[in-house]
Amino acid sequence: MAVLEIKDLHVSRDGKKILKGVNLKTGPGQVHAIMGPNGSGKSTLAYTLLAHPKYEVTQGDILLDGQSIRDIKADERARRGLFLGFQYPTEVSGVGFSHFLRTAYNSLSKALEGDDREVFITVREFQKYLRENLEKVGLKEEFLSRYLNEGFSGGEKKRAEVLQMAVLKPKISILDEPDSGLDIDAVQAVAKAISQVSGINSTIVVITHYARILRFLDKLDYVHVFADGRILKTGDATLADKLEKDGYDWVIEGQQQVAQ
Ligand SMILES: Nc1ncnc2c1ncn2[C@@H]1O[C@H](COP(=O)(O)OP(=O)(O)OP(=O)(O)O)[C@@H](O)[C@H]1O
Ligand SMILES: [Mg+2]
Repeated sequence: MAVLEIKDLHVSRDGKKILKGVNLKTGPGQVHAIMGPNGSGKSTLAYTLLAHPKYEVTQGDILLDGQSIRDIKADERARRGLFLGFQYPTEVSGVGFSHFLRTAYNSLSKALEGDDREVFITVREFQKYLRENLEKVGLKEEFLSRYLNEGFSGGEKKRAEVLQMAVLKPKISILDEPDSGLDIDAVQAVAKAISQVSGINSTIVVITHYARILRFLDKLDYVHVFADGRILKTGDATLADKLEKDGYDWVIEGQQQVAQ
């Protein structure tokens, strides 16, 4: 069970107000999409959910299963089952990709004890599990012996983020533009990997600019329009197609009329 609740969240960075009252509630097995113009604060929301130290919560709260995580640091949030797939993954030289995945998997499993996760006793067993997941996202085995993201192409970095989600099986995954820079086959593969993880009752929040990846998902419960630091409108999957066709102006203008 994992319910994430974002309540009237206001966030600033370097004194600039970016989030201006975000409200969102997600439940287990739900798939949410967040779409919105450049610079509207989508990545800020993602970073804030994982406690990036540069983002200051000035008002509101974030609850996980009814408990505030506002003052809890990133590593503890991860142990409680939150995961962020970055829009711009960082290269971490000196940290082997497979070592990183095994360490993360084991510490998450320890924290989520009793959660019915597979236990991999040997490195060999874990490698087998990794290989199955590599195949899903279309990465070759040689990536496992490289350093995390170092020298990966743009698309390879994105596949590697989704691979992490597929391997770690977090309770709640926030994926920040998992489809940007991906070739057509990869978009479909990534959507399939997302559907598999949501199929085990995990929550997925996909931030994207394109309806294409959403069409490949097995299910999509809600589409949220994010503009000027908050969610302006929520609809079902058909909203994504309408946004792709008509843009965001009609939502933003409609909101302004309501405010007047
Ligand atoms: N340190 C900073 N100082 C001032 N403004 C900042 C700072 N960091 C971020 N911003 C601004 O905050 C806004 C929100 O940025 P954010 O990355 O969250 O947008 P986004 O919705 O993810 O956009 P995109 O779709 O392009 O990824 C932008 O206008 C950005 O320029
Ligand atoms: Mg962004």
